[in-house]
Amino acid sequence: MTEADRLDTLLKETRTFMPSQAFKNQANFADPAIYEQAANDPEAYWAAQAENLTWFTKFTKTLEWNPPHAKWFSDGTLNATYNAVDRHREGIRKNKAAIIWEGEPGDSRVLTYDMLGREVDRAAHMLKSLGVGKGDRVAIYLPMIPELPIAMLACAKIGAIHTIVFAGFASTSLKDRILDADAKLLITADAGYRRGNIVPLKQNADEAVEGTNVEHVLVVTRVGEKANTTWHEKDVSWHDLMAKTPTTPFPAEPMNAEDILYILYTSGTTGKPKGIVHTTGGYLVGANTSMRSVFDIKDSDVYFCTADIGWVTGHTYIVYGPLSAGATTVMYEGAPDFPDRDRLFAIIEKYAVTILYTAPTSIRTFMKWGPSYIDQHDVSTLRLLGSVGEPINPEAWMWYHVHIGKEHCPIVDTWWQTETGCAMIAPLPGLMTTKPGSATRPVPGISVDVVDENGVSVGPGNGGYLVITKPWPSMLRTIWGDDERFKKTYFGKFEGIYLPGDGAHLDEDNYIWILGRIDDVINVSGHRIGTMEVESALVEHESVAEAAVIGRSHDVKGQAIAAFVTLREGIASSDELVKELKQFVSTKIGAMARPEEIYFTAELPKTRSAKIMRRLLRDIAEGRALGDTTTLADPSVVESLKQQYQEKES
Ligand code: WT7
Repeated sequence: MTEADRLDTLLKETRTFMPSQAFKNQANFADPAIYEQAANDPEAYWAAQAENLTWFTKFTKTLEWNPPHAKWFSDGTLNATYNAVDRHREGIRKNKAAIIWEGEPGDSRVLTYDMLGREVDRAAHMLKSLGVGKGDRVAIYLPMIPELPIAMLACAKIGAIHTIVFAGFASTSLKDRILDADAKLLITADAGYRRGNIVPLKQNADEAVEGTNVEHVLVVTRVGEKANTTWHEKDVSWHDLMAKTPTTPFPAEPMNAEDILYILYTSGTTGKPKGIVHTTGGYLVGANTSMRSVFDIKDSDVYFCTADIGWVTGHTYIVYGPLSAGATTVMYEGAPDFPDRDRLFAIIEKYAVTILYTAPTSIRTFMKWGPSYIDQHDVSTLRLLGSVGEPINPEAWMWYHVHIGKEHCPIVDTWWQTETGCAMIAPLPGLMTTKPGSATRPVPGISVDVVDENGVSVGPGNGGYLVITKPWPSMLRTIWGDDERFKKTYFGKFEGIYLPGDGAHLDEDNYIWILGRIDDVINVSGHRIGTMEVESALVEHESVAEAAVIGRSHDVKGQAIAAFVTLREGIASSDELVKELKQFVSTKIGAMARPEEIYFTAELPKTRSAKIMRRLLRDIAEGRALGDTTTLADPSVVESLKQQYQEKES
């Protein structure tokens, strides 16, 4: 489906789904007045929500707003791990399952709040013994194993800043992030499991730490002998050191609400990823509130978010959100089709999961596989479904509703970003009538609008830029080490108004329909990749002179990466070279950045001022009629490209 077709389908969607009386009756947020109350006084709303956390020193100031810099709860002190773990150990939840972990090979582990707390305390002692203290950066490059949340919670307990790098990233990407954050410790594993294969991590880690200030590499053994790990001087075994550390409680470091909890890198429009900075108090209030409002979390729930903790979805909705709410969170290590395509549904049945949170790309994959994999299992425990990462097409929404939700589960389509920290536009499932394909309206306490080029509201029935018009607790505070870029990227277009970079349409009921990125950012299977990052990787290859990268519509992934490459003088194009270049990008950035298609071209379509016309490249890659070509310096360039595309298709 092309972009235009997709838009057409979206705007024609008229179905509506009201929450059932049964759901309404039990919802955490059941009074519709909350929307108006929060809109009238957002600060009072957030201050009230903040009462759900345990503060060491209660804040007296709610918000200080010096656009574009916000401080929330700035004279309060608290600790994220105390809120996520320890406070639950002191009461009735002490022996409740905090994390249910399912390993890919079939091993599993349940950590109660008390067990998790003891592990975290030991890990905190261990970090301290390695010289890590408050404010130090710790890079974490781990697969989805229990040591990942244990490591992050241990950092938070001592006040160290974690920066988690998704384990699918290549060594260069890891190194860039270690350098930018100036991490002094790296926590990694010997290897991980993926679809039954062993994925080496330690090797990447070894390459990444060279020439950085990393003093130690703390290594978790996940795979063991088969990982064939080479140990180096800087390496310390997680397990050996854990065995030597005291088992005494580790006192939670009182943190100022505005102290940094973590940095998480995400792609932007340049080749250099942005280190998104989240603070302790505001972030935790956002994560905790949305867990109760959007996800309607209850003590009786078994909540399963299928994301990886290496992305923000996992930070907020596998770790800090559910744990701060005292919930049971399921984490799965591996691929959804290992050993078979029913794996996620087998997990839902095994643990009697009640809330499932996944991505449209997964739903479309399940659609492709067919409902038989679901029907092998009892998924009747499910009561609420969530979607995140990219626009969900109405067809996938309906399929989710019918085949997984069995027509009785509300669906919360949650729009948010690494930068926003928590869900911003999403229905409250007991209050909001949903429409397939729309994330509906902002959650209480959040103000959004759709505006034109001049920042003027477009009003119902029109499209434009999505903006967030007021500060919110879990907003990013800055870009690590680059406040100028922070100001320019997010507040440069409209003063004091946050620009997420998404296009949106507002319908007659003031529902928001997200149309996708309006900048040079591609969204592949819900993962953000900058066109420039892929282009920079490609031109590093000795055969490549120039490269232009675009995202084109893809039925399952949402978007796929297509690269247009000009080769150096004397280099001939070949199928081998296509393979080599794809692999090259994969090794440089990570497998998720691997181009789906590579087109060789003698020249790239450029305007007379030498600007690459990406829109035309997108038209070509999506097999569309070419748009306006009159501004091209050399119109014949696109014709030959188009021909090449058509030959490939036939
Ligand atoms: C971008 C943020 C936040 C978790 C995962 C991605 C797109 C995200 C939705 C949604 C339409 C969505 C936007 C956004 N996006 N959720 N429900 N509907 N689009 O985080 O990597 O920071 O990417 O993902 O384009 O800007 P991220």
